[in-house]
Amino acid sequence: MSDTTQDTTKPAPKKLFIKTYGCQMNVYDSERMAEALGPSGYVEVGSPEEADMILLNTCHIREKAAEKVYSELGRFRGLKDEKPDLKIGVAGCVAQAEGEEIMRRQPLVDLVVGPQSYHRLPELEAKARGGARALDTDFPPEDKFEHLKARPKARRAPAAFLTVQEGCDKFCAFCVVPYTRGAEVSRPAERILAEARDLVERGVREITLLGQNVNAYHGAGADGGGDWSLARLIWALNDVDGLERIRFTTSHPNDMGDDLIAAHGECEKLMPYLHLPVQAGSDRILKRMNRSHTAESYIRLVERIRAARPDILLSGDFIVGFPEETEEDFQATLDLIEEVKYGSAFSFKYSPRPGTPAAERPTVDPAEADDRLQRLQALITRQQREVQDSMVGGEVSVMFEKPGRREGQMVGKSDYLHAVHVAEADVAVGDIRRVRIVESGANSLAGALV
Ligand code: SAH
Ligand code: SF4
Ligand code: F3S
Repeated sequence: MSDTTQDTTKPAPKKLFIKTYGCQMNVYDSERMAEALGPSGYVEVGSPEEADMILLNTCHIREKAAEKVYSELGRFRGLKDEKPDLKIGVAGCVAQAEGEEIMRRQPLVDLVVGPQSYHRLPELEAKARGGARALDTDFPPEDKFEHLKARPKARRAPAAFLTVQEGCDKFCAFCVVPYTRGAEVSRPAERILAEARDLVERGVREITLLGQNVNAYHGAGADGGGDWSLARLIWALNDVDGLERIRFTTSHPNDMGDDLIAAHGECEKLMPYLHLPVQAGSDRILKRMNRSHTAESYIRLVERIRAARPDILLSGDFIVGFPEETEEDFQATLDLIEEVKYGSAFSFKYSPRPGTPAAERPTVDPAEADDRLQRLQALITRQQREVQDSMVGGEVSVMFEKPGRREGQMVGKSDYLHAVHVAEADVAVGDIRRVRIVESGANSLAGALV
């Protein structure tokens, strides 16, 4: 997002290219970083070749994600040879976890900044411009969000992310997030509401509330009456005129409060889609994962959510090949999937992460883990198709987000988060319209305006 109110006393703008990996929170953070560097004279550009500064906003969740960063950095060597003034920075979760190592392994890097220090980017950039290497992976006491206020009043796409909670205290045995994002912190409701109103003024009609543990949200309430739950916050957002759709991600099964479950049945702007990772279906493995829920408690929870909102579409995350997972354990995961019936899901082969408890344990044979992943994905694909096929002939509401690949086609998202495309649709970006589904494809639906 570029600043439209350029200060004419400053020299020609410098160009910033940000490449974002990982989760939605990184997408949100990349926007904040671009805004934070606006006053230092930067405007965002679309390619590394044009840039005076390249920032990689990285993800550490699996080994592959982290390794990508080093290969990507290697590719910038030629650019830096051509343009010695080019500054290269690494942000995000790899920066937090391996900041010193990045500096050591890759002399090209001028700047390393962890997720809790983005408000300090202008100082770090100035230091790097001055010729010194800058590293900041602190967990500073000051409120980063207060210093990262969305500044420019530029128009926005109709769907936006809004971080309400960050960090995690759950310490699942496989996961780096508690180390890279730090302890769980909730933003005050008032600031979130102000940011939401600002987004709406700029054309946003759908907001996805973000947090690594978003349903553990417990920020200072906007009514002076103590902390608010996520449900309370959603009800307050429901009253924001011009905001039409509310979503949130990612939830932990143990934090699905009664008020949040009820909101799914009662709050008209809350969309009927819930991402509720379970990770595995074997209680033995769940215990070793330190998940603190069982397969049974998860299934009961799903029943309560469906009782509140029968048409809700559920999605999940699964890890296969966690240390000591047997074929029997894996079968229990397949059984759970059969019982729950997901509309979509993300599944991963377990990746040992340095510093996490599970990394010390004996691993499952990689070929066996690959085979399990394929079987699990085949089951999920079948369920996804069944859900999609059952929608043909029915109606959904679609918010249109962009033109499609074909002339006249428009693409948007259904209330259930399916990509839906409509040929010859006489609609504008941001319009929300009823659509009859006529065809179910591999990863999207085709429909016609009602
Ligand atoms: N906060 C979210 C998810 C964080 S990471 C939650 O609690 O659900 C997103 C997903 O990556 C996780 O749900 C998990 O399925 C997967 N994941 C995390 N660590 C992993 C690892 N070491 N190996 C493989 N997958 C992992
Ligand atoms: Fe990671 Fe578990 Fe926290 Fe999710 S709940 S971020 S998987 S530690
Ligand atoms: Fe990756 Fe960090 Fe998000 S590890 S998934 S970018 S919180």
